[in-house]
Amino acid sequence: MIAVVKTVSEVKKQVSEWKRIGLSVGLVPTMGFLHEGHVSLINRAVEENDRVVVSDFVNPRQFSSSEDLETYPRNLEKDVSICGQAGADLVFNPEVDEMYPDDFCSSVSMTGLQNELCGKSRPGHFGGVCTVVCKLFNIVSPDRAYFGEKDAQQLAIIRHMVKDLNMNVEIVGCPTVREADGLAKSSRNSYLNEEERRASAVLYRALCAGRDLILAGERDCSRVTAVMKSVVDEEPLAEIDYIDIVDAFTIEKTEAAEGDILMAMAVYIGKTRLIDNLFMRI
Ligand code: PAF
Repeated sequence: MIAVVKTVSEVKKQVSEWKRIGLSVGLVPTMGFLHEGHVSLINRAVEENDRVVVSDFVNPRQFSSSEDLETYPRNLEKDVSICGQAGADLVFNPEVDEMYPDDFCSSVSMTGLQNELCGKSRPGHFGGVCTVVCKLFNIVSPDRAYFGEKDAQQLAIIRHMVKDLNMNVEIVGCPTVREADGLAKSSRNSYLNEEERRASAVLYRALCAGRDLILAGERDCSRVTAVMKSVVDEEPLAEIDYIDIVDAFTIEKTEAAEGDILMAMAVYIGKTRLIDNLFMRI
């Protein structure tokens, strides 16, 4: 039977009991409103660990004042049932002041890796992500932690933080789960009305167009992104935030499609900002 706890001390107590008898612990950090993408992370964590903790916390520190913190979708009851069915052992669902009491004044910051892609249009976002993920690692002391490749920049940043700060956790990246038309599963897809949902397939179509061009031999990234942009521009409900090709590890823009690259984009469909990416090894 899955347990739901609200306090840091309850998580620490449970995890230390597991660790005392030699059990390994996997952590799946989430902001809740779980979908098949999260389920794939939990499944992988269950396969690879004796016990699995899912954190379910909409982290205010990664939202700017103009973003959707208040309206971000939430459904704890459904989340707990999904976690239980997937074989997780504990859901950690703290209140904001449990994570950030009034006198909270520390943070993890990062340079470089957050200069491109989402870091440009969401200043402060990745600092907020690193701070909460660092806290979750300290609370749960997981052997492994599971993140989706859909948030490729987040994954690269977390891997870097773990290396830079010598954190004792293995970071496991898991493939993006897609709808039949290619749309990457995301909690924010729930914002889309029927027409927007149909339009949102344009992100994956554009990524595939870029991939096909590179597979056909094109190496000039500006020509590839121009084609990807033209695909998105054909969709009247879509407005491009960015479409870029970056080095998959440094997240710096690259002119030539060579080595390990990430074709990445953020596109507004109506008011909803969706992100997606494809990794290619050339
Ligand atoms: O990817 C997410 O859902 C969030 O950024 C994370 C990693 C749970 C931190 O709040």
